[in-house]
Amino acid sequence: MNIADSTALVTGANRGLGRQLAVELLGRGATVYAGARNPDSVDLPGAKLVQLDITDPASVAAAAEVAGDITLLINNAGSSTGSGLLDADVEDIRLEMDTHYFGTLSVVRAFAPKIMANGGGSILNILSVLSWFSLPAIGAYCAAKSAEWSLTNALRLELAEQNIRVAGLHVGYMDTDMTASVTAPKSDPAEIARIALDGIGAGVYEIVADETSRQVLAGLSGGAAALYPHLP
Ligand SMILES: NC(=O)c1ccc[n+]([C@@H]2O[C@H](COP(=O)([O-])OP(=O)(O)OC[C@H]3O[C@@H](n4cnc5c(N)ncnc54)[C@H](OP(=O)(O)O)[C@@H]3O)[C@@H](O)[C@H]2O)c1
Repeated sequence: MNIADSTALVTGANRGLGRQLAVELLGRGATVYAGARNPDSVDLPGAKLVQLDITDPASVAAAAEVAGDITLLINNAGSSTGSGLLDADVEDIRLEMDTHYFGTLSVVRAFAPKIMANGGGSILNILSVLSWFSLPAIGAYCAAKSAEWSLTNALRLELAEQNIRVAGLHVGYMDTDMTASVTAPKSDPAEIARIALDGIGAGVYEIVADETSRQVLAGLSGGAAALYPHLP
């Protein structure tokens, strides 16, 4: 895909990785819709603002009318409730699935027909190394990211016939609000945005953006015993 010729929508573009993706798209010459729950929170000169709460069907439908000329959709918006699966409030667990899985699916269902009508294009879902590896303290987030990975794989097959390439990006910790309490090394979201768009430009289906994700991907073939060696 030629990024400079594209018209893109980034969900959750007001901060974090989403903002960096929008900045990078603008820098490469794309036309950019910056989607945000609160458009007043977007500071992106040159971007078009779109109100978009991915868990609100009316908001998604309205955004699809406003930004119906897109050829690139980046599903970046994500929640992080810090919930384990056994003891956390079930509403928080549900929010993770509502956002990462049903929210992303809702946006794809609204925009895929638009992209197809515009001659085809690409969809990028921002996934995680935690689509492949679980941390029990945030098991709800991990399960939602796994579900979003599976959704990405299924949609890739379904939308290929409609001239829409569906990609996923896997990455470990990035330095954003989401990881404010994490002290482990974090990558710069501006660098991850560059890797993401290089991948989309090159037609890569699975963009593995950092060393942590590459190691976990390589470890998957060893099964649970290799991934979780501390298990009794
Ligand atoms: N940070 C990491 O280490 C890391 C690692 C791997 C993957 N990821 C993924 O990367 C993506 C971006 O995360 P980030 O680190 O940039 O997080 P962030 O700084 O916490 O930003 C999250 C973004 O998602 C938006 N959002 C949340 N729920 C939404 C909804 N229902 N509708 C629309 N927008 C919504 C937020 O909007 P508001 O400002 O309105 O809340 C915000 O713009 C997420 O999908 C996350 O799962 C992050």
